[in-house]
Amino acid sequence: MSAGDLLDTPLTRQAGIAVPLIGGAMYPCGNPELVAAVSEAGGIGIVQPISLTYVHGHEFREGLEFIKRLTKKPVGFNALIEQSSKLYHERMVQWVDIALEEGIRFFVTSLGNPRWVAEKVHAAGGVVYHDVTERKWALKGLDGGVDGLIAVNDRAGGHAGPKSAEALLAELGDLKVPIVCAGGVGDAPDFVRALQMGYAGVQIGTRFIATPECRASDAYKKAILGSDSSDIVLTERITGVPVSVIRTPTIDRMGTRAGPIARWMLRGRRTKKWMRTIYALRSLRSLKKGLRDERSEYWQAGKSVETIREIEPAGEIVQRFAAAAKAAASTIPS
Ligand SMILES: Cc1cc2nc3c(=O)[nH]c(=O)nc-3n(C[C@H](O)[C@H](O)[C@H](O)COP(=O)(O)O)c2cc1C
Repeated sequence: MSAGDLLDTPLTRQAGIAVPLIGGAMYPCGNPELVAAVSEAGGIGIVQPISLTYVHGHEFREGLEFIKRLTKKPVGFNALIEQSSKLYHERMVQWVDIALEEGIRFFVTSLGNPRWVAEKVHAAGGVVYHDVTERKWALKGLDGGVDGLIAVNDRAGGHAGPKSAEALLAELGDLKVPIVCAGGVGDAPDFVRALQMGYAGVQIGTRFIATPECRASDAYKKAILGSDSSDIVLTERITGVPVSVIRTPTIDRMGTRAGPIARWMLRGRRTKKWMRTIYALRSLRSLKKGLRDERSEYWQAGKSVETIREIEPAGEIVQRFAAAAKAAASTIPS
């Protein structure tokens, strides 16, 4: 293996990027400046459409054009394709069409069946990677025509999975598509380790909140710098399924399990859809409020907080991680 080999992967070739690093979609933290900074440095930043419009106040197409003025390099788009609301689905179809018109060719899908996204994106010559937490969802995604998988592990911020990075690679490694590691990568050695394990790239969320580009409150950023992995807990109270958050007095007061009525509704086939919609609307509002409110203690983050100790520009993070991967590859005799 020669220098640079760890950076040349199926992900970098398919996405047309220099560093196999995805700046993951983040509601509400993914503001356009952060997305653009990751892409400009050689990775690929992913636009979270509800974050772009509802939290950061851009009309969707104008927001994409703003990002295109900040970087000419590829950016990606996150299509959360859960179909519990017809209105939301129709909006998502419009967003995907506009993203394609605006030149986006890298899509990350989560939940649901990605077939309709894959069909549109492939017709335009793009690629789709699908977030999964276990083999069952990976097979469903591949059946829907996706080109790669993002294996979300038990250390991830956002909706964490139940399995470790090692276990997921063992479970998905034979599926003949590139597999990206999502979860727990907070520093350069974690990045290098994931690539050396055989992952085609890494998707990072939490590390990019502690950057000057991210518009989160100082209190949120400080909480990330001051936390260890034991401070991260899973709560069902935000979206009805477990989400990783920093344990704070507010989280303790709220409790981490869904209430009895919500649990009953989440079990029923029809009531599940209503409950998810109620949760989604409520959580969009409270997470938006928690992003900039210095008094809020409602902060999503993953276990990578344990290696994040300073605020650092997003582009420097990408380049520092890339340099570490190059250095690691050059020490392996060819
Ligand atoms: C604050 C926050 C918000 C997130 N929001 C989303 C989202 O809206 N859509 C999505 O697909 N993933 C979301 N994620 C997951 C990230 O895209 C990424 O997979 C994850 O953060 C990787 O784990 P890490 O935080 O340990 O780096 C979110 C993660 C965080 C930390």
